[in-house]
Amino acid sequence: MALPRWRTQSSRRVLSLGLLLLTIIACTSAQATRERISINAGWRFSRFTTNPDQLSYDTLKSWILPSANDFITRTKYKRPSGTPPGSDVQYVQDSFDDSTWDAVDVPHDWAIKGPFGAPGISGGEGKLPYNGVGWYRRKITVEAADVAAKRNLYLDVGGAMSYASVWLNGVLVGGWPYGYNGFRLDLTPYAKAGDNILAIRLENAPNSSRWYPGAGLYRNVWLIKVSPVHVAQYGTKITTPSVSAQKATVAVSVTLENNSNNTEQVDLVTEIFELDPATRKAVGDAKAKISRVSVDVAGGAEKTVNSTVDVPNPKLWGPPPKQTPNEYVAISTLYVSGNKTIDTYETPFGIRTIIYDANKGLVVNGIGEYVKGVCNHHDLGSLGSAFNVRAAERQLQTLQEMGTNGLRTSHNMPASELLDLTDRLGVMVMGETFDTWKRQKVANDYHLLFDDWHEADMRAYVRRERNHPSIVAWSIGNEVPDQQYAEGGTYAKELQDVANEEDGTRQSTSGLNSADPNKAISNVLEIIGLNYQGEGHGTDTSSTYPNFHSKFPNKMLWTTESASTVSTRGTYIFPVTPNITAVVSSSAGENTTAKYVSSYELYSPSWASSPDKVFVQQDKFPYAAGEFVWTGWDYLGEPTPFDSASRSSYFGIIDLAGFKKDRFWLYQARWRPDIAQAHILPHWTWPSSRVGQVTPVHVFTSGDEAELFVNGKSAGRKKLAQSQYRVRWDNVTYQPGDLKVVAYKGGAKWAEDSRRTVGAPAKLNVTADRTTIRNDGYDLSFVTVAVVDDKGDVVPEASNGVAFSISGPGEIVSTDNGDPTDMTAFPSTSRKAFSGLALAVVRSKKAAAGSITVSAASGGLASGQVVVQAG
Ligand SMILES: *[C@@H]1O[C@H](CO)[C@@H](O)[C@H](O)[C@H]1NC(C)=O
Ligand SMILES: *[C@@H]1O[C@H](CO)[C@@H](O)[C@H](O)[C@H]1NC(C)=O
Ligand SMILES: *[C@@H]1O[C@H](CO)[C@@H](O)[C@H](O)[C@H]1NC(C)=O
Ligand SMILES: *[C@@H]1O[C@H](CO)[C@@H](O)[C@H](O)[C@H]1NC(C)=O
Ligand SMILES: *[C@@H]1O[C@H](CO)[C@@H](O)[C@H](O)[C@H]1NC(C)=O
Ligand SMILES: *[C@@H]1O[C@H](CO)[C@@H](O)[C@H](O)[C@H]1NC(C)=O
Ligand SMILES: *[C@@H]1O[C@H](CO)[C@@H](O)[C@H](O)[C@H]1NC(C)=O
Ligand SMILES: *[C@@H]1O[C@H](CO)[C@@H](O)[C@H](O)[C@H]1NC(C)=O
Ligand SMILES: *[C@@H]1O[C@H](CO)[C@@H](O)[C@H](O)[C@H]1NC(C)=O
Repeated sequence: MALPRWRTQSSRRVLSLGLLLLTIIACTSAQATRERISINAGWRFSRFTTNPDQLSYDTLKSWILPSANDFITRTKYKRPSGTPPGSDVQYVQDSFDDSTWDAVDVPHDWAIKGPFGAPGISGGEGKLPYNGVGWYRRKITVEAADVAAKRNLYLDVGGAMSYASVWLNGVLVGGWPYGYNGFRLDLTPYAKAGDNILAIRLENAPNSSRWYPGAGLYRNVWLIKVSPVHVAQYGTKITTPSVSAQKATVAVSVTLENNSNNTEQVDLVTEIFELDPATRKAVGDAKAKISRVSVDVAGGAEKTVNSTVDVPNPKLWGPPPKQTPNEYVAISTLYVSGNKTIDTYETPFGIRTIIYDANKGLVVNGIGEYVKGVCNHHDLGSLGSAFNVRAAERQLQTLQEMGTNGLRTSHNMPASELLDLTDRLGVMVMGETFDTWKRQKVANDYHLLFDDWHEADMRAYVRRERNHPSIVAWSIGNEVPDQQYAEGGTYAKELQDVANEEDGTRQSTSGLNSADPNKAISNVLEIIGLNYQGEGHGTDTSSTYPNFHSKFPNKMLWTTESASTVSTRGTYIFPVTPNITAVVSSSAGENTTAKYVSSYELYSPSWASSPDKVFVQQDKFPYAAGEFVWTGWDYLGEPTPFDSASRSSYFGIIDLAGFKKDRFWLYQARWRPDIAQAHILPHWTWPSSRVGQVTPVHVFTSGDEAELFVNGKSAGRKKLAQSQYRVRWDNVTYQPGDLKVVAYKGGAKWAEDSRRTVGAPAKLNVTADRTTIRNDGYDLSFVTVAVVDDKGDVVPEASNGVAFSISGPGEIVSTDNGDPTDMTAFPSTSRKAFSGLALAVVRSKKAAAGSITVSAASGGLASGQVVVQAG
C-alpha cells in the first residue's frame, strides 16, 4: 500500500528520532550493565629459566588461598594483614620498562615455539621449554565513571599454566595454582581511575606433568565490569527436570551478589530463547518467560532465586546423527528503579534427559547412544596449548566425520570454549579434572596441591560448566594411584559429592586401570570407568566387565580408555603379525632406528590392544556403554614406545598435523556403517627390494565382503566373519602396478578403493581446509601440501623439503607434518613432507581484509599455491 508522501516522511523522522533515543539509552545502559571486555591483545611477556624475583608459591600461598573462598565449604581463608609479598619486585611496578620484553597476544603458549630439546625436559613432556618463571604485564584502563559508580571490576582468566599470581598496581590480588582451571579475581579494591598496571607471574616446575602441559596465559582473558548488584560468578544453574514432546519444565536458579552499600531493590526477569548456533545469540521471540520477582540481597551477601517455567514443544539437544544438538539461551535481566537495567546475563543451555542404564548404557532423550568416544589432550598440535576455537573445531569435525559422538577431556578441565563447541556440534563429553590426587605420578604434579585445592578446583569447574548440555559425566580422576587404597574411596566420595552439590544431574566416573570391584573406589563411583580392563590387556582376553557388572548390577559401566594402538602415518613395517593384535616391540611393528611404528594398526603397548580386539570384546559385553579410544588426535609428549627420542604421541587415530592415519577408516566403518567406504593399506609404491616379497593387503570397509584385485587379477573375494573387522589378504607378493578393492554389502556392490605404484615427485598440490576465513586475528586456514607425481597422486614416502611463503593479510603461525620425530621448531616455514604431506597453519590479521596467498616450493618440483580470502 502506497502511503501519502507527508506520512512517509513524518514516520521516517519519528523513526530516526526513535533510533537516536535508542542509541542514547543503549550507551547509558551499556555503561550501567555488564561489560565483558577481551584483554587478549597487547601484553608484554618475559620468561626466566632461573627465578628472577625470589618469589615462590610457598611465599605467596597465604595470599593466594583466599581466591578459593567461593568454592570451599569449610572455613573461608582470611587475607593476611600487612603488605602482601612481591610489591618490591620491579615487574609489578608501573615504573618498570617492559619495552624489551616480547609483545604478545594471548592465548599464548610460551613454549610452543621451541626449540625442541629443552634442557631437563623429557620426551614425555614434549621436549619443549615449558619450565621456568614467566611474567606477563599489561595496562588496563578504568574510566572515572566506573569508579564513581562503584562498578565491580573482575579479571577472568580461562587458564594460566601454572601457579598464577596476580598483582594490580603493585598489590598482590590473589591467584590460582592449578593450570587447567579458570579463575576470577576481584580487582575492584586495587583499581583506580585511569591506567592500572596488571602483572601476572606464572611458574612451571620441570617434572610437573606426564605430557606436554604448555605454558603461559594460554586461554582467553577478560575484564568484567558490572554494577555492584549482579548475577554472581557462574551464578546460574539450569536443569530440565521433566521433558516431553509437548513441553519441557525448565528450572532456573539465579544467584545474585550484592557488593553495594546502597539501598536498592532489584527485579529479576529471565526469558528463554532459541540459540542460533552460528552467532551463539538469541533468535526469535522468547519461548518462555519467568515473571518478574523482586529481590533483596544483603550487602556483601548472595541470594538465590529459583523458578521453573515451561517451554512448549521443546527442541531437544542430542548427538548426531540420530539427534540434533539444539540449544537455548536464558537471558536474565536485573532491573532497579522500575525499568533501569543493571545487569544482563546469558546462559546457553540445552533441553535433554539422560538415563545411565546398567544394561542399555547412555539413554539420551529416550534414545540409546552407544558411546563412540575418543580421549584428547588439550594441546592443538603445532599451535600448542594456546586455545584456538577453529583449531579445536577442526579436531572435533574430523572426529565427527569418523563417527565419534563422545569426547573425554583427558586428563583435565578444557577451555570453556571447547564445551561451547561440543554443545554446538553435539559431542557427548566426559569432563575430566585430575590426573593425580594425593599420590604422585611425577615429582611436581597435582599431589602437591591436592589437600588445599581439590575441593575448590572441582567445585569451580562443575559450577562453571554445569549448564553445557554436552557434558554427560564428570570424571573425578584418571588412573589415580589412590584407587588401590581405602582413602581412594574417601577422596572419590568427596569429589563426587561436590559434583552432586553443584550439579546433581550427571553421574560421576573415573578412569580405573587397576581397581577391582572390591576396592573402596568402585563402591563409591556412580559410573564404573575402566581403562583397558574391560577388553583385557594386550593379547589377554580376560575381562573385568563381568566382575563389576555382577557386583554392581545397577551401575552403568563404560571403557574410559581403550585401544592405545600406536602407529606412524604412512609407515608399514614387515613382517606383519598374523594376529588381530600384537604387543609392539623391536621385533614387532617398530622401526627402532627411525622411531616409527607400523601403520597396519595392529600394534599396541602391553597394557593395550588393537581396535579389532577391542571390538571383539565389546561385542561380547553389550551392556557396557561404549568406549573412549586413546586417542583421537596425536598430542605433544608421551611418545610411547620411544619415550626419550620423540616429541609427540603415536596413539592418535589422526596425527599431530591433522592427517588421518589408516585407523580412521577402521573406526569409521564401525561407527558410521551408513557411510559406504572401503580403504586399502598399505600404499603400493615400494622399492625394488620389495618386489616378490610378501606384502599383506588389508581393507577396512563398512561393507561385509570384499574382493581384491592385484594387477587386475582377483586375490579372492572374502566375507567378514563374526568378530572380524578387516578383510586381510596376508599373502600378496608385491609387484609394481595397482590394487583395487570392491566391497559388497548384503551381496550388492557397496564401495571401491584403489592404490597404484606412483611415479617420482613432480609437483606440490596445495589445498586449504577453508578458503574464506574471518579477519578477526584468530581464524585459521589449514593448508595442506601434497607431494604428487605427474598424474596427481600422492607420493607415499615423499619427504621433500617444502618452503612456505605468504602474502596478504595473514601469517603462517606454524608448520607440521605429523612426524613424531621431527624436531624442526613449529614456527619454521621450511618443513619436510612426511609420508607425502606437510601442513601450514595460516591465521588472519585483525581487521585486515583481502586475499592471502600461501605458496609452497620445493627444489625440482613445480610449486603450488592457494588463495584464502580474509574478511
Ligand atoms: C625429572 O625427573 C627425572 C627422573 O625422576 C630426573 O632424572 C630429572 O633430573 C628431573 N628433571 C629435572 C629438571 O628436575
Ligand atoms: C561501602 O562502605 C565502605 C565503608 O565506608 C567503603 O569502604 C566501601 O568502599 C563501600 N563500598 C561500596 C561498593 O560503595
Ligand atoms: C545491597 O546491600 C545494601 C547494604 O546492605 C542494601 O542497602 C541494599 O538494599 C542491597 N541491595 C539489594 C538489591 O538487596
Ligand atoms: C535453588 O536451586 C539450587 C540449584 O538447584 C539449589 O541448590 C537450592 O537448594 C534451591 N534453593 C531452594 C530454596 O529451593
Ligand atoms: C517497566 O516496563 C514494563 C514493560 O515495558 C511496563 O509494563 C512497566 O510499567 C514498567 N515499569 C515501570 C516502573 O516503569
Ligand atoms: C600370535 O598369537 C599366538 C597365540 O596367542 C602366539 O602364540 C603367536 O606368538 C602370535 N604371533 C605373533 C607373530 O605375534
Ligand atoms: C627403518 O628406518 C630406517 C631409517 O629411516 C630405514 O633406513 C630403514 O629402512 C627402516 N627399516 C625398516 C625395516 O623399515
Ligand atoms: C600364506 O601362504 C602360506 C604358504 O603358502 C600358507 O601356509 C598360509 O596359510 C597362507 N596364509 C594365508 C593367511 O593365506
Ligand atoms: C590436489 O588439489 C586439488 C584442488 O586443487 C584437490 O581437489 C585434490 O584433492 C588434491 N590432490 C591431492 C592428492 O591432494
